[in-house]
Amino acid sequence: MNHVVVTGGAGFIGSNLCRRLISNGDKVLVIDNLITSDGTHLKQFRNNPNFKFIKQDITTSHFALRNSKFEIIYHLACPTGVPNLTKLGEEMLRTCSIGTLSVLELARKNQAKLIFTSSSEIYGDPKEFPQMESYTGNVDPVGARSPYEEGKRFSESLIIMYVRKFNLDARIIRVFNTYGPGTSKNETRVVSRFLRNAKSNRPLPVEGNGKQTRTFCYVDDLIDALLLIAERGKKGEIYNAGGDIEISINELAKLVLFVTGSKSKIKHIPRPGHDHQGRRPDLSKLKSLGWQQTVGIYEGLKLTIDPALS
Ligand SMILES: NC(=O)c1ccc[n+]([C@@H]2O[C@H](COP(=O)([O-])OP(=O)(O)OC[C@H]3O[C@@H](n4cnc5c(N)ncnc54)[C@H](O)[C@@H]3O)[C@@H](O)[C@H]2O)c1
Repeated sequence: MNHVVVTGGAGFIGSNLCRRLISNGDKVLVIDNLITSDGTHLKQFRNNPNFKFIKQDITTSHFALRNSKFEIIYHLACPTGVPNLTKLGEEMLRTCSIGTLSVLELARKNQAKLIFTSSSEIYGDPKEFPQMESYTGNVDPVGARSPYEEGKRFSESLIIMYVRKFNLDARIIRVFNTYGPGTSKNETRVVSRFLRNAKSNRPLPVEGNGKQTRTFCYVDDLIDALLLIAERGKKGEIYNAGGDIEISINELAKLVLFVTGSKSKIKHIPRPGHDHQGRRPDLSKLKSLGWQQTVGIYEGLKLTIDPALS
């Protein structure tokens, strides 16, 4: 049994990770300030003796953890969502800087392994396809997406500094678009938005001409990647994780209509200027650890429909 901390564990990926850790027999402590989640998906663990939740902002002092001992820390905490870039820009930057620093100190004190969820956003609007971990990206440091993009880049920088200076055992995972059950009711990412609208026969809003592409990864496959990297990854290494099959937003919208049987129409709306045309991870490093995607988009959407529509 490992003693595990999950920062941001009340969120979409975090709550799915907690379920897997607990079923694997680990003891899990979640620290989350519920800024972009509401804790609904943690209720299932309420009476589990191997689960504890502390509502706390990681940018404030982590006094509650003073007398505890942990072997692994999954550091997921970060405000997410494109509409929050303006609303929670300061919180993003504080969480990715002060927050990550506190988590690094906690890892150092406990000599714990640190697994950090960075993002494909660190590649910005990429000029290279597919994006390998060695690609340094194309990011505007003061652009509209910068609180998240530069926040994650700064977190990466801090983490690698701790690996080099303190020999901390940390691994960085650059997560690409992930979907599945367990998102918050206010989730704005494209799959959730489309499924929600399809359920109520409201139009599916496709930004611009819908030819921009994305890759999608079902959350169970992403959790497999996180656990595999924790187990077999190497100290100081960076791993892309996600799906590597590109589909356009138009295709996704049509697939959602097909899977849900909805009567919704597709409605094209203006596309934000800072949106990117596409991203596709090179997953060679992750696959070399033995990972493979097991859930395709059609099956994944079907698995997501029920919870998303309830
Ligand atoms: N879901 C994706 O497609 C995706 C893609 C790329 C990267 N990621 C990264 O994966 C991680 C999890 O993402 P998610 O989709 O579950 O998002 P989410 O918003 O559902 O979860 C993030 C959680 O972090 C918490 N949090 C934010 N700031 C905090 C703070 N200062 N202190 C404590 N808790 C705080 C939020 O309340 C939330 O519960 C994030 O770091 C995100 O950047 C996700």
